[in-house]
Parts: sequence; C-alpha cells; structure tokens
Amino acid sequence: MKKPKISVIGAGYVGLCTAVGFASKGYNVVACDVDEEKIAKINKGVPPFHEPGLQEKLSESIQKGNLKGVVGQTDQVIQETDLTFIAVGTPSKSDGSIDLKYIESAVINIGKALSQKDAYHVTIIKSTVVPGTTQNIVKSKLEKESKKKCGTDFGLCINPEFLRQGSAFEDTLNADRVVIGSYDKRSGDTLERLYKAFYSFHMPLIIRTTLSTAELIKYASNAMLATKISFINTIANICEKIPGADVKVVAKAMGLDKRIGPLFLDAGLGYGGSCFPKDIKALIVCSKSLGYDPELLDSVEAVNKTQPLKAVDFCKEQLGCLEGKKIAILGLAFKPDTDDMREARVIPIINQLLKEGAHVVAYDPVAMPIAKTIFLSKIQFATSALRCIKDADGCIVVTEWDEFKKLTPEDFTKNMRHPILIDGRRIYNPEIFGTKLQFTALGLGKK
Ligand SMILES: NC(=O)c1ccc[n+]([C@@H]2O[C@H](COP(=O)([O-])OP(=O)(O)OC[C@H]3O[C@@H](n4cnc5c(N)ncnc54)[C@H](O)[C@@H]3O)[C@@H](O)[C@H]2O)c1
Repeated sequence: MKKPKISVIGAGYVGLCTAVGFASKGYNVVACDVDEEKIAKINKGVPPFHEPGLQEKLSESIQKGNLKGVVGQTDQVIQETDLTFIAVGTPSKSDGSIDLKYIESAVINIGKALSQKDAYHVTIIKSTVVPGTTQNIVKSKLEKESKKKCGTDFGLCINPEFLRQGSAFEDTLNADRVVIGSYDKRSGDTLERLYKAFYSFHMPLIIRTTLSTAELIKYASNAMLATKISFINTIANICEKIPGADVKVVAKAMGLDKRIGPLFLDAGLGYGGSCFPKDIKALIVCSKSLGYDPELLDSVEAVNKTQPLKAVDFCKEQLGCLEGKKIAILGLAFKPDTDDMREARVIPIINQLLKEGAHVVAYDPVAMPIAKTIFLSKIQFATSALRCIKDADGCIVVTEWDEFKKLTPEDFTKNMRHPILIDGRRIYNPEIFGTKLQFTALGLGKK
C-alpha cells in the first residue's frame, strides 16, 4: 500500500523527532517551521539541538530525499501531504495558563490551506494542550478558515507525545503507548492505520478515546511524574532531620513494591525542563477555571520551588557567608543528554548564589552555549569539570551527567581550595566521599 505523505508544523524536539522518525522509515515528510535558521540547519542534516541518535538519521533522511525542511509555505505543504502533525510550543502565560498563540497561528494557516484542497486531510495535534482546546479552538478555527466541516470534509485528532528529551528519538521509534483522541471515527482510523504501519510488529498498545480524555491523559501523566519527584524530595527533606537516614535506600526499598515502582524516585533539586513546570501550572489554572482547586498540585509546585535553593543553604552551612567565595557548578542542562535549559534548576541556584555575592564558575558538556545567552557575563564558564572546580571554595553538582559520576574524591581534594562538595543529584557514594572530603548530599541524615 502507498505510504501517506506527512507534514509536521513546528520542528522543535517533538516535531523534528516525529519528522525524522517517519522519514527514517521511508515516509515522505515535510518539516515546517517559522525559524529560518532552524530549517537551514535541518536541510543541511544538522539537528538544531542536542539529542542523542538524531544526527545520523536526520542527515540520512535528508540525503535520501525523504525529509525536507521549509519555512512557512503552509498552502503548498497541505496540498502535498495527507496528514499534518502540529508540534508547536505551548508555553505558559504570566498567570500560568496555557498560551495557545502558536497553535492558533498554525491552525489558521492550515484552515486557509484546507479551503483550497479537495482531498481528505487529517490534522493531528501533538503539542500538549489543555482539555477542550482541540474541540473548542482547533476545530472551530479549522472550520471557520476552511469553510468546511470537520468529520466529513477533513479529519482531526489529538495524539499527545510522551517522548523524553535525552532519549527523544529512541522514544519516537519505541513508544510504550499511542494515545489517539479523535473527533470522529474516520480521523482516528486514519491515524491508527498510520501508526500500525509505522510500528509494524512492534506496535505499542493503542488507546482510542475522546479528544478531551486524550488531552487530559498527557497532563495527568506529567502531573503524576512531577508528584513522584516532589514526593521523594519531601521524604529526602524528612531524612535530613533523622540521624542515619538515607533517602536513596528508602527509595530503593519503596520502588521494589510493584504498586509504587522504582522510576522517578530519585531525590534531587527538583524538576525543570520545557514540560513539567508549564504543564503543572496549566493544569492547575485549567482545573481552577472549571471550579475545582487541585491542592495536591499546588503542593507539588511549592516543594519544587524551594528544593533547588537547598543547595545554596547547604553551601552557606558549610562556608558561612558566600560573599567573594568561588562556587563551582557542575551541570547546567535541566537533565543529562540535552542542551535544553528551559526552567533548569540551575537558574534559581545561580541567581541566589549571585545574590549572596558568590563568584560562580560553571561547566556543562553541551549546554554552555545556551547558558551563555542566559547568564551573559554574570558567571564564568570553564572548559572542563576539573578546570571548573580548580581553586573553588565549594562545588554543587546540579545535573547528573555520566562525566561527573567518574570524578573521584581525589579530583576534588586536589583541585579545590576547600573540598566542600554538595551532591544535588545523589551520584556519589556517601560512604566513600563522606570520609574523604566535606560532603553533603540531599536526603542524607546527619551523622
Ligand atoms: N520537549 C519535550 O520533551 C516534549 C515532550 C512531550 C510533549 N511536548 C509538547 O510538544 C510541544 C512542542 O514542544 P517542543 O519541546 O518540541 O517545542 P520547541 O520549542 O522545541 O519547538 C516548537 C517549534 O515550533 C515552531 N513554531 C512556532 N510557531 C510555529 C508556526 N506557526 N508554524 C511553524 N512552526 C512554528 C518554533 O519555531 C519551534 O521550532 C509542546 O506543546 C510541548 O509541551 C514536548
């Protein structure tokens, strides 16, 4: 059977991984973005962001002619393809509610293009949108601009994305479930057929449901993961008050309970990134607007807000006043294997250190070019982990890159002025590090 042609609007982490995923399996894909620089890189086979495994498949897809990037040109893109995924950003407004301006603009362009197209076309929302968006905003705008009827003249689905940055491309090829919310049966069947052909024998479980249930599944999933993080951080904070207690052992034993599971029970400096913070906020605002106050989620957020500042408190406990002290920061990205710094926990940490008068030197294997645009000349950047900790009065590990896990107690004692190490991600063994240097780790009860 002939493979349908696919377009993706928004070539960021989700859009580009989706586009390359389909292109790598022989589909003809057009990736469309408003960012000319991004598209120029894509057409040269160079990913505009750091994502393991993407480079090779992107350049292969471009060389084979399965993928092309375009700026704008929505009319032509819709004419040329059969299905369009929308993967534009859905950031927060200042009150925490979802900002749908990129969705609206993409949908208006698609609607106008649909008015010129006779053949059946399915639009699929992959961006994370609050319940009601696809039905009330996307469908209405598509119908208004195209002067056509959803469900008969064109199709509409919501297909939330669950990939994780750092393994985004791998996750695209090996999803653990596919959620399809459809306006009508034909739209859902068309998308299900596409995924069945795409995954072939490795087809994950498909959940077919309504538009609003699919929208809520994405928020509920992120809220659950964020809750697990704030929960274990709460237990970590309790452990710190109990001599001899260690949250890492508590989490390991808890995780063996099948009802709980071991994942997302790593105590640390809290969650960041482009999704959890904005999605929790959007769900809270959405829920309140519907007349229900989700107090649990308010607490999840509150724990996450104070958690990164504990690293600074630990620093002050060890060093006293931070004025003029040199503090080394290992890790800037919001998590390992990405250069994304959106809502990274390091941002409030560094801002607080600077407020206290500290001199900050930072190192990250891939996120420094982006960090430089955020901190400008307010902090210094080192070219390696060892250069970063050289002559430092204290060091905070903020991102659990593998590279930092290899550092030994001697690396710290030999290079730092004062070997004070704060392990914000629990990557070092306290039994070893605790005897060789002044070592503080989150969730460790004082001896
Ligand atoms: N990043 C993740 O890990 C992840 C995971 C699951 C879901 N999501 C959701 O997917 C969506 C996209 O996230 P992302 O991280 O890929 O965002 P991103 O910021 O990396 O990419 C969005 C892209 O859309 C482009 N864009 C904006 N308006 C456009 C328009 N009108 N036409 C064409 N392109 C346009 C931007 O230039 C940008 O390149 C969000 O709703 C996010 O919540 C993200």
